Amino acid sequence: MGRLRLVVAGIDDTVPAVRRLVLAAPQGGELPSYTPGSHLVLDVPAGAGRERALANAYSLVGEGLHPSRYEIAVLLCDPHGGAAGGSAWVHTLRTGDPVTAMPPRSSFAPVQAATRHLLVAAGIGITPLVSHLRFHARWGREAELLYLHRAGRGALLDEVAELTGGVASPFHDRADLLSRLRERLLDQPIGTHLYTCGPTGFMDLVVSEAQEAGWPASRIHLEHFGLDDLDPGEPFDVTVGERRFEVASGVSLLEAMEQQGYAVPNLCRQGVCGECRLDLGPATTGVWHRDLYLTDDDKAAGDCAMACVSRALPAADGRSHLEVSL
Ligand code: FES
Repeated sequence: MGRLRLVVAGIDDTVPAVRRLVLAAPQGGELPSYTPGSHLVLDVPAGAGRERALANAYSLVGEGLHPSRYEIAVLLCDPHGGAAGGSAWVHTLRTGDPVTAMPPRSSFAPVQAATRHLLVAAGIGITPLVSHLRFHARWGREAELLYLHRAGRGALLDEVAELTGGVASPFHDRADLLSRLRERLLDQPIGTHLYTCGPTGFMDLVVSEAQEAGWPASRIHLEHFGLDDLDPGEPFDVTVGERRFEVASGVSLLEAMEQQGYAVPNLCRQGVCGECRLDLGPATTGVWHRDLYLTDDDKAAGDCAMACVSRALPAADGRSHLEVSL
């Protein structure tokens, strides 16, 4: 599916530094549906300090069934360039401005088979979880939310109150939230799944608490805002045709290929736009996918990777390796 042509149909700047943006088709009408936890990738034009166009992903907070509008909530100053970044551009938009976007994609949907859903958000990380809450409210699923935000800076609080019947737990102190989380992790029925979204350091703590409480990785789900502070990873080898070279720790596969003279199409360089997808050959030892673009089935197949964020998984018996087919 190609790019969607949209216009800004509404703006709400009530919460300091958080802009809620409503996007709709220029002539109105239905937009592609989306599953809870989906994000919209907006094309951010070059200019205003941006040397090149970007593509940034923002979580959708509305109802995904037959939507006539898309709504996102964007915190000013994202990790991808401060005043020149995508969020700063969003904060300059005016009602009626045209916007192009890729159709919604999801890599953070609620697990259908889960018996219960424990949601843990920090800051603007509440956005995909509000979408989850809508789903749970609509279908009568059991869900519980712990939400950490600075006093007076909570986003989407009206929706949170409405969707949780006013019983969501807001926290202004991280230690308080973690203390409650420890209790809640030990008091969940079998089959509960945990979902967390927020700054990477926060999510690391949530995952660590869950692991200490004995939760398996298969029941823990994370949504990253951006990929600026990804684990630099271990070095690994890449083969492209007859050539074999190393991708150093902290260097992306995309950067390493560019250094070797390969022109790999790219746009966002943060795993959301899909431009840098590479086909992989059978000599690949395993892929560490960290993008928001590929579907779970794509990732399970293991025959493609996003060059900007993917790495080789550490190989148990020897040097980890990706074979790229150009
Ligand atoms: S450049 Fe956008 S996903 Fe890699």
